[in-house]
Amino acid sequence: MAIISFITHDEQHIAVSIKPGSTIMEAAVASAVPGIDAQCYGAGVCGTCHVYAAGPLRDVLPPRSDWEEEMLKSLPLAGADSRLACQIRFEDRLDGAKFRIPERQDAVG
Ligand code: FES
Repeated sequence: MAIISFITHDEQHIAVSIKPGSTIMEAAVASAVPGIDAQCYGAGVCGTCHVYAAGPLRDVLPPRSDWEEEMLKSLPLAGADSRLACQIRFEDRLDGAKFRIPERQDAVG
């Protein structure tokens, strides 16, 4: 079983297991990671699964889709490292990846 980690805004490090094919959001919700609200549970319309993928991880992830790009533009805390966790499907090369969670989640719309 692969492991990914989340780092909350107050520096809690939370490691969770994830299966290939699951999304980063699904793994967070299954392990009750605080700060990943995922109100639409992966439909890609709420913006409340916002995470930051910084450093080398940013280059390993598949690029943002046009849709994800548009959604992120609506989020006040979004920046260059921002991603929607529901739009990232786990692959083996993401084993050990660390995602930061913003201070708060802002729902789109
Ligand atoms: S869970 Fe709603 S956009 Fe990701």
